[in-house]
Amino acid sequence: MTTAEYTAWTQPNDANALGTLFGGKLMQWVDLAAALAASRHARAPVVTASVDYMTFLRPVHIGQLVLLKSTVNRVFKTSMEVGVKVWVEDMRTGETAHVSSAYLTFVAIDVAGKRVALPQAVPETDIEKRRWEHAGERREYRLQLRQRALDREKG
Ligand SMILES: CC(C)(COP(=O)(O)OP(=O)(O)OC[C@H]1O[C@@H](n2cnc3c(N)ncnc32)[C@H](O)[C@@H]1OP(=O)(O)O)[C@@H](O)C(=O)NCCC(=O)NCCS
Repeated sequence: MTTAEYTAWTQPNDANALGTLFGGKLMQWVDLAAALAASRHARAPVVTASVDYMTFLRPVHIGQLVLLKSTVNRVFKTSMEVGVKVWVEDMRTGETAHVSSAYLTFVAIDVAGKRVALPQAVPETDIEKRRWEHAGERREYRLQLRQRALDREKG
């Protein structure tokens, strides 16, 4: 399955009022790292259709590295699920710790703005097969949430 890696070196202008990393900045990097894997798989521009629940397990201090690894878990027709796992690395000690994980859905769009069918991807390893299976279950739930949001719009 297609993967990507992205590393960010946190800078003072990434900080919140407490001097640690602003959560929105991490969310931006998660979206970017996920889009990287998605676009690499699609070989086309992609847009974010949804982001699942995120939790932040520990603060990231300015000067630390944020390591993001993304994997296309499952390709549907024009959409795909990407999983991202985030670690913090302390530059002085080299120690790493898990910070957050997220699942995002991307849709591939051509230059005319039309959705495009994606190349399929077949899971091979046990872990890929497990992610593929679970991605299908998560998609059902996401589409229910989306339908509820659309129904609420209609009133
Ligand atoms: C996402 C978007 C392209 C979906 O387009 P649409 O015309 O509503 O098309 P559909 O309902 O047919 O959905 C297209 C695909 O996306 C999937 N999808 C749409 N919304 C989804 C959601 N919230 N979660 C998961 N999958 C979603 C559909 O299941 C379908 O998948 P498939 O082709 O693999 O079966 C459209 O809503 C859009 O452009 N949104 C804005 C995206 C954007 O700009 N993101 C950046 C943040 S501002």
